[in-house]
Amino acid sequence: MILILLGPPGAGKGTQAQRLQDKHGLIQLSTGDMLRAAVAAGTEVGLKAKAVMERGELVSDEIMTGIISDRLGEPDTKNGVILDGFPRTEAQAEALDKMLLAKGLKLDAVIEMKTDDDILVERITGRYTCANCGAGYHDSFLKPKVEGVCDKCGGTEFTRRSDDVAETVISRLKAYHDQTAPLLPYYRQKGILKQVDGMAGIDEVTRQMEDALQAI
Ligand code: AP5
Ligand code: MG
Ligand code: ZN
Repeated sequence: MILILLGPPGAGKGTQAQRLQDKHGLIQLSTGDMLRAAVAAGTEVGLKAKAVMERGELVSDEIMTGIISDRLGEPDTKNGVILDGFPRTEAQAEALDKMLLAKGLKLDAVIEMKTDDDILVERITGRYTCANCGAGYHDSFLKPKVEGVCDKCGGTEFTRRSDDVAETVISRLKAYHDQTAPLLPYYRQKGILKQVDGMAGIDEVTRQMEDALQAI
């Protein structure tokens, strides 16, 4: 199965993708995580992406489609993937269609996580991640069972993203509305767009995701 999670920064794409990965054995392909890994490793892509990400703008279509095309060629993606953060522009959506066609694969569904902009800054500025396993948490909305200890791996080190500051969130939201939201009619026209209420609690969103998947 190939799924796209589409929604603004902080909508919950990463949170729900991790759950779908754990439950259904699909592989989460987060282009944001891949870019952050490239920045940390100091690769050529990382060097190009770093400043763009810190401004809250989009990295070039050429780099992004290259990354996804390479990743879809790896054997662990054979059982299906959840695209988290890709495509983000019409050019990326068209490149994805061509890529899937060439690989004999089909896009099953695009799930829009509908949210109001005014809650997103609070979600993003409260977010933190386990430095060891990448599990995501939130200061108020998703705390580990034991404070300071990751539920998944027992790790005690956590990180925050450098683009998770209020000013950058505003640019990221603008990029979403200007460049990514136009993909909604593109996929609606194809008849594969589904919606969940991204404003609901995390478990309720998961339930709606499961309902949407049942229908496929
Ligand atoms: P990326 O990493 O994709 O960031 P984003 O799209 O801005 O999305 P986020 O990761 O911030 O939000 P999310 O929806 O995953 O929310 P989460 O589940 O963590 O991209 C970063 C940058 O990389 C971009 O700005 C761009 O520069 C570049 N980039 C990446 N892909 C690109 C592409 N294809 N083309 C060009 N450039 C690209 O949830 C947020 C917080 O809220 C968490 O703490 C969570 O616990 C909490 N939460 C989640 N759901 C709920 C809920 N229902 N109720 C309450 N709290 C919740
Ligand atoms: Mg994310
Ligand atoms: Zn962990």
